[in-house]
Amino acid sequence: VTEIYVNGLAEVSPDIPIEPSELETAALEAMDETARGYVEGGAGSGKTAESNETAFDRWRIEPEMLRGVESRDLSAAVFGTEFDVPVMCAPIGCQSILHDGAERASAEGAASEDVPLCLSTVSSTPLEEVGEAMGDVPAWFQLYWSPDRELTASFIDRAEQAGYEAIVVTVDTPIVGWRPQDLQQGYLPYLHGTGIANYTTDDVFRSYLDHDPEENTLSTAQTFLDLFGDASLTWDDLEWLHDQTDLPVVVKGILSQADARRAVEHGADGVVVSNHGGRQVDRSVAALEALPGVVDEIGDEAFIGFDSGIRSGADILTVLALGADLAFVGRPYVYGLTLDGAEGVATVLSNLLADFDLSLGLSGYDDVAKLDREALVHESALQ
Ligand code: FNR
Repeated sequence: VTEIYVNGLAEVSPDIPIEPSELETAALEAMDETARGYVEGGAGSGKTAESNETAFDRWRIEPEMLRGVESRDLSAAVFGTEFDVPVMCAPIGCQSILHDGAERASAEGAASEDVPLCLSTVSSTPLEEVGEAMGDVPAWFQLYWSPDRELTASFIDRAEQAGYEAIVVTVDTPIVGWRPQDLQQGYLPYLHGTGIANYTTDDVFRSYLDHDPEENTLSTAQTFLDLFGDASLTWDDLEWLHDQTDLPVVVKGILSQADARRAVEHGADGVVVSNHGGRQVDRSVAALEALPGVVDEIGDEAFIGFDSGIRSGADILTVLALGADLAFVGRPYVYGLTLDGAEGVATVLSNLLADFDLSLGLSGYDDVAKLDREALVHESALQ
């Protein structure tokens, strides 16, 4: 922060605007049309994505003064691992459409800021390479649960071997939502061979092909589609998943108290409250609106992560104060990737963390662990 005030922004990170909406505009402008549609795109009318952000405006921070906040502890203990910061990069697939460095550059940028990262199943870079780029900084693996159990088990096994520390199974995307921008352009990255690196490097996937994955991309894409999602899954299947691994299993895409309870009853070690950045169900409940109920239901029993709409330090403070253990940053870090590769990711994350650190201290807290709902007032209580 001091560096920016002393040298001016142009000296520090000329390509990365600090203001979140300017960052978004600059990154979207830098993308080609298909990538823009894919990244920006929300389900249907786009209202879910919009309300993810506006939901934050209804929670205000009530700062308290003179509480000795000179040094601040941002660390968080998650599944027995000490995270330097209570923030993780959310799984975002197909990053080669944004920057040649793709997920490797994101990993390098995140690791340089000690920010853990959750890698998508549909990454453009094999999970082993990304695991290596994360070094000692924790990485989790996000699983799209294939109808082929052998392939699913193989992904989990590979993630374990590569040092990933948790399996995050995304349950809100057994099929891809109605996304007008992608439909209008007739574009999905996977059908162009992008985002399927974990499949084409997998022996189980390759056993379905009678050719090299590179040679017949159309047939490879078709095989990918057949093996991607499974809309027949039910909660009972979660126990099978649990049996495949000793790693913690986290269920991503929870939006109701009842589902949070079901997740725990079926053996999940945690959940991520998320509506996939508004990309799946048009006019779904905003993720932030769902968070307090989930915390009330399982907050004492299980890990709770949150994503969908986090854009600022105040947003991170809000979700942690409402009871989330970890805030997942989504689109903003891939905007950084788009504009300046690993450096861009590092700059966006470092700005967000500096903003959060200041918000924490100025609100009267010297420790993330001390944050609770006392820090907030809901708009409805302000009348
Ligand atoms: C995603 N998200 C996502 N989630 C997941 O579990 N696996 C994936 O492969 C992807 N891929 C993906 C691509 C793109 C372009 C976006 C924008 C999002 C969802 C992601 O993990 C997270 O839930 C949202 O990004 C949160 O919303 P915001 O804060 O980014 O708006």
